This record gives sequence, structure tokens and C-alpha cells, in this order.
Amino acid sequence: MAKTVQVFILILVLHVFEAALANKLSSLSLADECSLLFQFKQNMSINKDASFDPRAYPKVASWNLNGSDDAGNCCLWDGVGCRFGHVIGLDLSSSFLYGTISSNNSLFDLIHLRTLNLADNDFDSSQIPSGIGQLSQLANLNLSFSAFSGEVPKQFSQLKNLVSLDLSRNRLKMQSSDFQNLVQNSSETLRELFLSEVNIDSELPASIGNLTHLNILALRECAFTGALPASIGTRSTRPLSRSTLFA
Ligand SMILES: *[C@@H]1O[C@H](CO)[C@@H](O)[C@H](O)[C@H]1NC(C)=O
Ligand SMILES: *[C@@H]1O[C@H](CO)[C@@H](O)[C@H](O)[C@H]1NC(C)=O
Ligand SMILES: *[C@@H]1O[C@H](CO)[C@@H](O)[C@H](O)[C@H]1NC(C)=O
Ligand SMILES: *[C@@H]1O[C@H](CO)[C@@H](O)[C@H](O)[C@H]1NC(C)=O
Ligand SMILES: *[C@@H]1O[C@H](CO)[C@@H](O)[C@H](O)[C@H]1NC(C)=O
Ligand SMILES: *[C@@H]1O[C@H](CO)[C@@H](O)[C@H](O)[C@H]1NC(C)=O
Repeated sequence: MAKTVQVFILILVLHVFEAALANKLSSLSLADECSLLFQFKQNMSINKDASFDPRAYPKVASWNLNGSDDAGNCCLWDGVGCRFGHVIGLDLSSSFLYGTISSNNSLFDLIHLRTLNLADNDFDSSQIPSGIGQLSQLANLNLSFSAFSGEVPKQFSQLKNLVSLDLSRNRLKMQSSDFQNLVQNSSETLRELFLSEVNIDSELPASIGNLTHLNILALRECAFTGALPASIGTRSTRPLSRSTLFA
């Protein structure tokens, strides 16, 4: 009897926790998200030398929390996409963004983000912030050509829904173990992996063959040693003719 009561109380407590957690997630309102985006804007500098695309322009320049027409509805802001009342997409590629993004940047509190594109900006040779791991819903992440350097943070393993990842053309260094870490929890979802001009200073791990849905693997100028693992493509569920490999 006492056992039953204990179990009942335990279940009750778990339910309360679960409800509290769900509440915490849903308590992030659109207004909160707009304010987080605005904080991000305020934390970055605009620099005309930060982007190379001739069509580049500073998308965040028009963002305003109290403007008359947008009235702070950030879903109407340039580069921002919303669905079901949340910010789920952010395309700030080629936006003249300059500066470093620290791991506690407000950007990483936008937990509903599914698409994040910061390509072709200048993050001043900083590391990719570990806060990226908080964005667990991310399916598409593009950080190419944006002056990131150093190691790839291990928090990438928290991104379990990645479909497309582009880290190409940065001064990043990757070991075989980093590679493992990068893809171990997204092996069921990952379809595109762009790592050209990333310095992979080791052999490619055989576990690359675990990426059974991989369509595109771009490894141009990656400086990896040894041959391509024979496992690549062997477990692929898709026709090999659709795989592309720029080695
Ligand atoms: C952005 O925030 C970081 C850390 O809070 C701070 O060191 C940096 O000076 C800020 N940059 C700008 C342009 O406000
Ligand atoms: C709008 O906000 C800016 C700061 O973001 C402030 O300087 C300006 O005074 C505000 N304008 C109005 C009309 O409230
Ligand atoms: C964010 O981190 C930076 C350096 O890592 C620190 O200077 C700053 O105070 C932090 N800001 C907040 C809001 O915690
Ligand atoms: C990432 O962004 C760059 C620059 O805008 C673009 O050239 C590249 O195709 C994008 N990568 C993917 C996977 O879409
Ligand atoms: C990623 O996978 C590893 C091993 O498969 C596991 O230990 C780790 O907890 C996973 N990370 C997350 C955030 O789920
Ligand atoms: C991936 O593949 C390797 C061998 O190719 C295997 O040993 C490993 O268990 C697989 N799974 C993970 C999560 O790495």
C-alpha cells in the first residue's frame, strides 16, 4: 500500500515537473523572441567589409522594436521567419555583421529556430560559440565563409535534427573525434554536409558511413590524410548517383 502511494506521488511529481518544463518552453512569447533578436542586433557591429557578396546589405539595420508600421512584430523584419507564433527562421547571410558572438548571446535563447544562416559575415576569427547546442530544433545551419576559427564545439552533438550543415570556408580545425561528435546524433537526419576548406587534420573516421541519408558530402581542400573510408555510401538508403562528393 505504502509503495503504491509512493509511486503515485512520484508520478504526480513528475507530471508537475513536466508541466513546469512545458510551461517554461511555451512561456517564450513572440514578444520575448523579438526582444532577443533586437538584443542580438544591438550586440553586433555593422561593417561594410564583413561581407563579400555584391548583393550584401545590413538586414538588421531596419529592425526596430517600436517602429510605427512593424510595431515590433519581428516576424515582418528582414531575414526573420515565423510559424505558429514563434521565430523559426533567421537568414542573416551577407548582412555586414561584424564582431564576436559569445555563448550567452541572446541568439541562443531562440529555441524554436529551425533554420539559421549567418554565412558571409565576419565573426572576427572567434570560435563557433558552444551556445549553438541550445538550438536543438535546428535543421538547417549555415555558418560558411564567416571567419570562424578554431575547434568545432562538442555541443554540436546536441543538434539531433540537423538536415543540412555548412561549415565550409572557415579556419576551423577538426580531428577525427570532432567529426564523430559532429554527426553522431544526427546520423538519421543529416542529408548535406559541407566542410570544404575546413582543416581535417587526420583520417576520416569509418563512422562517416553511418550517415545513411547523406546526399551531399563536400570535402574540397580539407587536407585529411589517408583514403576515403570504404564505408561512405555503402549504407546509404538513397541511390549513389544522387550523392555528390567534392574531394
Ligand atoms: C556584445 O556582448 C559582449 C558580451 O556581453 C560584449 O563583450 C560586446 O562588447 C558586445 N558587443 C557590442 C557591439 O555591443
Ligand atoms: C524607439 O526605440 C529607440 C531605442 O531602440 C529609442 O531611442 C527611441 O526613442 C524610441 N522611439 C520611440 C518613438 O519610442
Ligand atoms: C556573457 O559572457 C561574456 C563573456 O563571456 C560576459 O562578459 C558577459 O557579462 C556575459 N553576459 C551575460 C548577460 O551574462
Ligand atoms: C550557405 O550560404 C552561402 C552564402 O550565402 C551559400 O553560398 C551556400 O550555398 C549556403 N549553403 C547551403 C548548404 O545552402
Ligand atoms: C549524443 O550521442 C551520444 C552517444 O551516442 C550520447 O552519449 C549523448 O548523450 C548524445 N547527446 C545528446 C545531447 O543527446
Ligand atoms: C558507426 O559505424 C562504426 C563503424 O563503421 C560503428 O562501430 C559504430 O557503432 C557506428 N555508430 C556510431 C554511433 O558511431
